[in-house]
Amino acid sequence: MSAARLRLGVNVDHIATVRNARGGAVPDPVRGALLAIEAGADGITAHLREDRRHIRDEDIARLMASISKPLNFEMATTDEMVGIALKTKPHAACLVPEKRSERTTEGGLDVIGGHDHVKAATTKLKAAGIRVSLFIEPSVEALEAAVSIGAPVVELHTGSWCEAVTEGSAKAEHEFERIKIAAAKAAELGLECHAGHGLDYATAQRIAALPQIIELNIGHFLMGEALFVGLPEAIATMRKAMDEGRAGA
Ligand code: PXP
Repeated sequence: MSAARLRLGVNVDHIATVRNARGGAVPDPVRGALLAIEAGADGITAHLREDRRHIRDEDIARLMASISKPLNFEMATTDEMVGIALKTKPHAACLVPEKRSERTTEGGLDVIGGHDHVKAATTKLKAAGIRVSLFIEPSVEALEAAVSIGAPVVELHTGSWCEAVTEGSAKAEHEFERIKIAAAKAAELGLECHAGHGLDYATAQRIAALPQIIELNIGHFLMGEALFVGLPEAIATMRKAMDEGRAGA
């Protein structure tokens, strides 16, 4: 099987985190998004959290008005966020679990316990022409639930794997195997498969070898690198790592 080109979605949330640390208007996540696109991003991802801790409503409006590539709107499955998505009509919406106390999205969406609730939101978003993806744990049960919900796309949560790699834990290979099995199963079930969370150059290169995955969404690591080498160089290095990983597939 010759693998499709792997798309890179750049998450600009943490440009807004730095801006909000001081208040005011800079650094501007929209400027970051435009620069990311110029540097090779295939799309921009932004998560409007319930507490607006990074991206704010006006950032979403400005991103929609300014960027030439698709916006992937990450959102909790709440009435408020569904309403904003229906009004904004981004290219894509990625449904994620959200807890106020977490520092970042912990774990995948509960597509089994929350099946009917997620299905209702998915149906409304799809009817508005928004491509829906579900951010799920890499498990066969979650994939089957995604099919039953009617989502065309899943994003596999790579956080546990990346954390195990960083810690040098023996669990890392087991976690990677879960992702590998889930990516193959997603394709078998007819789901478009994305992945993301906690990826860096090395983990992005490795996961790029899985031919069923067609998009990676990456934020925190790229923004950290950008502090030292600049955003265009960080994105170019990530692109190279992804292309090398895929070429070896
Ligand atoms: N994908 C999803 C669904 C996420 O919630 C996040 C974090 O906002 C990411 C990708 C990006 O994760 P990171 O910032 O760790 O690269």
